[in-house]
Amino acid sequence: MKWPAQRLASGSKKSFGMYDEAAKLDAAGVDLIHLEFGRPHADTPDHIKQATKAALDAGIVHYGDFRGTLSFRQALVKKLRDFNKLDYGVDEVLVTNGLTHASFAAFMAAIDPGDEVILLDPYYPQHIGKTQLAGGKVVIAHLDEANGFAITKEAIAAKITERTRMIVLINPANPTGRVYTRAELQHIADLAIEHDLLVLSDEVYEYITYDGAEHVSIASLPGMRERTITCFAFTKAYSMDGWRVGYVTADARLMPAILTIAMTDVTHVNVFVQEGARAAVEGPQEPMLAMVEAPRLRPPSTLFPISAARAEARRISRWRSCRKRMSWSRREAFTDPAGKGISASASGPNPRCGSSRRWSAWAASSTHFKSATYQGETA
Ligand SMILES: Cc1ncc(COP(=O)(O)O)c(C=O)c1O
Repeated sequence: MKWPAQRLASGSKKSFGMYDEAAKLDAAGVDLIHLEFGRPHADTPDHIKQATKAALDAGIVHYGDFRGTLSFRQALVKKLRDFNKLDYGVDEVLVTNGLTHASFAAFMAAIDPGDEVILLDPYYPQHIGKTQLAGGKVVIAHLDEANGFAITKEAIAAKITERTRMIVLINPANPTGRVYTRAELQHIADLAIEHDLLVLSDEVYEYITYDGAEHVSIASLPGMRERTITCFAFTKAYSMDGWRVGYVTADARLMPAILTIAMTDVTHVNVFVQEGARAAVEGPQEPMLAMVEAPRLRPPSTLFPISAARAEARRISRWRSCRKRMSWSRREAFTDPAGKGISASASGPNPRCGSSRRWSAWAASSTHFKSATYQGETA
């Protein structure tokens, strides 16, 4: 029997392999430092929970609008206008199960077999799998570490061919942590307009910026609204990772195809969870802002040294020499010489997640990290 379908058998399995390994070690009681996902450290703010409970008590438990409840989408339209400077109507917003679902629907709606999708390296591994599932071909545009992983026009222009369909952006970036400037985004916008390309912008970290960095949504740049699919989620800043709620915005011409994928996949997002998320957007923002500023979340100095360390870890995972300190092999336990378990993935260490102190302590004891960019980042 042929199993599974070719598009699954031939694609990348990168995204979840490390998560699986870490889960096994967790279950075995190993004291793991989780670097393979960015789990917020705080509980979800109470007013969000209360709104969800109230929705349940009010009997909001039945099928709803496939695009998301109207009142929630209205609240999102206002947030998009006020915070992102984006002008979308309620029918250009679709509520999804987290950002992962939003971008999956976008990839599936946008990519035909053979289409090329440009990912900026360092990239987020899920985007490889999604490109491949849609039948597309991943094309990597390397960003230069020496240049702070800044976007340059040349780096992307060199990768554009007749088959290029979409450029994928993560802003603020994971794993580098870079918050792209308006000028950097303009490079992508210029190329997208010149070559008639789509841009998928993953803005899951939109609120998590420091030191005066301004988050700019690329869809707000002239000429980009109609060719950008922007994905958002409540996951990180609102500490709602387990709630699985996000949303995607796109021009009215693009949205029906995205809705077809999302609706076929899940019908719609859990209705009382949407009420909780509505309270997150409409209610006080102070609890969210306080979590973002909390010492445990906030990198000790600027984002960049931390993010460079994350990118370093990503590279380390490929280095044989590193196996002395910890093993990255799928079949072995990931342990350092002291027996402490460390899981890692292509996204590298995530100082934003709960184990940052333990990670910092480990990183400080690592010869490589001392000589690299983690020096002084051990608070
Ligand atoms: C860049 C990026 N996109 C998407 C996600 C996943 O978001 P969600 O949990 O809302 O699906 C993450 C999680 O770490 C991420 O870093």
